[in-house]
Amino acid sequence: MTSFTSSHTAVARRASDVEERVAELLARMNLDQKIGQMTQPERMNVTPDEVKRYHIGSVLSGGGSCPGDNRPADWVAMNDAYWAASMEEDEGHLAIPILYGVDAIHGNANVLGATVFPHNIGLGAAGDPELIERIGRVTAREVLATGVDWTFAPTLAVARDVRWGRTYESYSEDPGVVSRYAGRIVRGLQGGGGSGGVEGGSEGRLDAEIGHGAGLPALGPEGVVACAKHWVGDGGTRDGVDQGNAVMDEEELRRVHIAPYVSALEAGALTVMVSLSSWNGEKCHAHRYLIQDVLKGEMGFRGFVVSDWNGVDPLAEDYGEAVAMAVNAGIDMVMVPETWKAFIAALRERVERGDVPVERIDDAVGRILRVKFACGLFERGRPWGRRGANGSSFGSQAHREVAREAVRKSLVLLKNEGGVLPLDKGGRILVTGRGADDRGRLCGGFTVEWQGVVGNDRIEGGTSVWEGIKAVVPGAVLGGVGGVGEGQSVGGPQDMGEEEGDFDAAVVVIGERPYAEGLGDIREAGPVRPGTNQLPAGPGVLEPYGDTLQLAVLHPGDLRTIRVLRERGIPVVVVLVSGRPLVVDDELAASAAFVAAWLPGSEGGGVADVLFGDYDFEGRLPMGWPGGWGRVLFPRGFGLHLLGSEV
Ligand code: GLC
Repeated sequence: MTSFTSSHTAVARRASDVEERVAELLARMNLDQKIGQMTQPERMNVTPDEVKRYHIGSVLSGGGSCPGDNRPADWVAMNDAYWAASMEEDEGHLAIPILYGVDAIHGNANVLGATVFPHNIGLGAAGDPELIERIGRVTAREVLATGVDWTFAPTLAVARDVRWGRTYESYSEDPGVVSRYAGRIVRGLQGGGGSGGVEGGSEGRLDAEIGHGAGLPALGPEGVVACAKHWVGDGGTRDGVDQGNAVMDEEELRRVHIAPYVSALEAGALTVMVSLSSWNGEKCHAHRYLIQDVLKGEMGFRGFVVSDWNGVDPLAEDYGEAVAMAVNAGIDMVMVPETWKAFIAALRERVERGDVPVERIDDAVGRILRVKFACGLFERGRPWGRRGANGSSFGSQAHREVAREAVRKSLVLLKNEGGVLPLDKGGRILVTGRGADDRGRLCGGFTVEWQGVVGNDRIEGGTSVWEGIKAVVPGAVLGGVGGVGEGQSVGGPQDMGEEEGDFDAAVVVIGERPYAEGLGDIREAGPVRPGTNQLPAGPGVLEPYGDTLQLAVLHPGDLRTIRVLRERGIPVVVVLVSGRPLVVDDELAASAAFVAAWLPGSEGGGVADVLFGDYDFEGRLPMGWPGGWGRVLFPRGFGLHLLGSEV
């Protein structure tokens, strides 16, 4: 079959092209240039001149680390400077474009004005894999608009304990759901390469063969490099402690936590990030069996493996030994935000001593180059000149409509007493609660700042829950927010001189403030890992969010607000904004209707779309919902339609 043969030849040629180009370039590189490619500093600690001088292969932004005024143009200018330095070939430096990485985990949410999607837990509730792929495509476009080519997403964690501060980064406690999403988000982000479901028939499947054999699938024209993370078992740690210890046998590790990576790799994921957690007491960052033997050997992963933030440091007292352990375990690129010069020196010394074989260095650098060639980085040209840079679609209405659809589909209706929902757009509706008019709270962590923001001023574009309701309900009134402190209950009718019973219903938006990683853990206070101060950037010790899942203990003002309104005879519709299920027995009992909204992102107007009946509820719980005394109040998969039947 000519067409098959020709496409096969074409694909095979591309694979051989890539492999030939890797071999040719590798042969010209000296040890300093190779080690430089394996080094990933954080932007605040490296200049474009140093990128050239040390042959740096990648630079990253940690959460909230943003250039200039944090507009797309500022990002493009920064990337252009790094790219130009990396490509300035001379007798001592080879032109190899840097790969810039960011945490665009729910849209390119670091950047002001970006479309911010619901965090993964809400997308898991939506149950729509096709939507996930569209979200990936929109996210990729908004990443490319900033001159960035790599996102540290998707998180493929299977969260098994909702006390974990990163529960919201997990699509579900069910590995089957995460697996169904993994391939779709990777294809959405990377623009279509990989196996199965790719238009173009055999080409797609052949690409997959390349992915697992001769090379890697190419990026689509609007694709960015994806990063499946965190390898592996990050969502399965004991008591949900972030960076903790996942205690389980290999059968469970494979069935629950490795399974989603199979579809991510089949879809052509080009990079994988290692977890800061441990498996049965062994750090993943030093786990040769998991990285070299399982991921690269058994699963045939041909891209490159990147460490997580300072993930090498805690492996051994002696830093050089820690570096050797990580690289020999199969880590190809090391995220060393501050101490990158020490890393370079330590790795060089360990290679010269023979502790790290040159073959391992060549394998690592070969993988990095393979990804750079496969994603067309050498051909994409400088960031300023690229088609997508400063793209007008950044934060566009069309992008926001995709996010608003995701919000609608993510909402889970847990209670609707007496059919109080849908609300009447012609009614007198009080909207109150700490999250009522707060786009920052809706977005949660990894939004503009690592730990997220509160208020509206730094979430440009989009709508709060209040703004969404106000736009369609002439009789809506925003309740006085009596301050966000716990000591003050939130405003109700009495704060506005309204007569009792003046409202047909009250929408009360309550829940968690933004957090990220260990700062979101529910556990006893103390370091993320007892006995170590090796923590992600931020305070010396990551104080947890609290030591209980009971919302009435964490934020007592929420329950007070609900009860005040209920005692005035106003039916209360609770909208819970949280990164996870919480124990809300009392809040549930005091409300007429109760909606789990998760972390919906910038398009809070999607909440009004469903509360007032333009759309029905479709969301189903991605995780079991805990009640008091450790019981499961609602099982995974539970969710009600407006008319009361289960979704
Ligand atoms: C963080 C996270 C990881 C993120 C990385 C870069 O510590 O563990 O998910 O991609 O650092 O910000």
